[in-house]
Amino acid sequence: MISLPGGAPCWLFTCRHTYEDVLVAQLLDLPEVTGATRLSDGLVAALVGEGAEGAPVDALLRALDPTYALQVLPNVREVEAAGVNTLGKLVSDVLADPVDGVSAPWDLHVLVPAQLKGNPRPPMARRAMLLEQAIAARLGKIRKRAWRQREEGCGKPARLAQVLLLDHERAAVSCVAPVATEVGGTWPVGLPAGHAEIPRDDGAPASSFRKLEEALLCLRRWPQQGERAVDVGACPGGWTRVLRRNGANVDAVDRQPLVQHLMRDRRVHFHKADAFTWEPEGPVDWWVSDVIAFPERILGMVERVANEVRPRFAVIQMKFRREPDHDAVAQALATLRAAGYGARARHFFNDKNEMTLMAVRDPDAAA
Ligand SMILES: C[S@@+](CC[C@H](N)C(=O)[O-])C[C@H]1O[C@@H](n2cnc3c(N)ncnc32)[C@H](O)[C@@H]1O
Repeated sequence: MISLPGGAPCWLFTCRHTYEDVLVAQLLDLPEVTGATRLSDGLVAALVGEGAEGAPVDALLRALDPTYALQVLPNVREVEAAGVNTLGKLVSDVLADPVDGVSAPWDLHVLVPAQLKGNPRPPMARRAMLLEQAIAARLGKIRKRAWRQREEGCGKPARLAQVLLLDHERAAVSCVAPVATEVGGTWPVGLPAGHAEIPRDDGAPASSFRKLEEALLCLRRWPQQGERAVDVGACPGGWTRVLRRNGANVDAVDRQPLVQHLMRDRRVHFHKADAFTWEPEGPVDWWVSDVIAFPERILGMVERVANEVRPRFAVIQMKFRREPDHDAVAQALATLRAAGYGARARHFFNDKNEMTLMAVRDPDAAA
């Protein structure tokens, strides 16, 4: 059973399970947060303090954006009812005002706690489905016009209503207008619980391809046919395969060759070289890096990429020795911003002891 802390307005954050303590520490570092605690696997609550009361929610969303959070449910309200139809009615009553008059696509995510661990068949999934039906029936009646604008899976929702079942009879409800991030997506993100649904790829040479897929979903921008991508630290080829699948021509740089089918691909140019010194000739659309190296070396790469290579988009993994190196992440973001990039760092569901740095040279180019 999950109990929300009382007192100040409560915000919920999801994260990759086992990283709850890191997220709590990040939240406690923020001046707007007076308390933070782990509620369950992948779920953390923060109390937003008195100093922050009255601040517009979009300003708070920009401030409360820790890199270890996958999703945010701002200002949750708790509702309770024994029957699912009554619960649906109470949730709809909370949502009625925030969605009133919305004239662009918006979305509703009904979530259950075990989903946060990536469980595809979590307990209470059926309850959540029934609750969503009850909300659809009620909200579809009392906010007919707004309900017609609900678009399941819309990437950049004008409003995001989120309902997290805490148990069979209680739900936490949140609804805000998400803010645009510097790199293209929104905060909160348009993905349920912040989890990307990545299709299986049985032919992928490594499961690490999922990390790049999550970054592309966060950017809401994918390589286009004929664009030029540089993939450093490319072996065995998981990321190169994603870039190729989207139609990019790839310069793959590694000390070791890629799997055979990628080595034979005429649109993959393999360079047996050092990722930190190899220089591309001509303009680059995408620079992606999954090189295993100390943060100091990755900072050097970020500096060179931002100021010399100047790709339109970059996705660069920063791997940590033991503890996350928050200072190195902040320094990388500062370097990218100083070079005129929109930048964001995120610890994605598929990230291990590492952080994904994303950069967009012309933020308006992000779809
Ligand atoms: C985590 S793996 C990359 C996996 C790849 N993204 C995929 O999806 O298949 C890291 C790679 O970085 C390469 N690497 C490490 N240091 C390097 C360097 N200085 N120059 C080039 N490649 C390097 C390693 O050889 C290794 O293949």
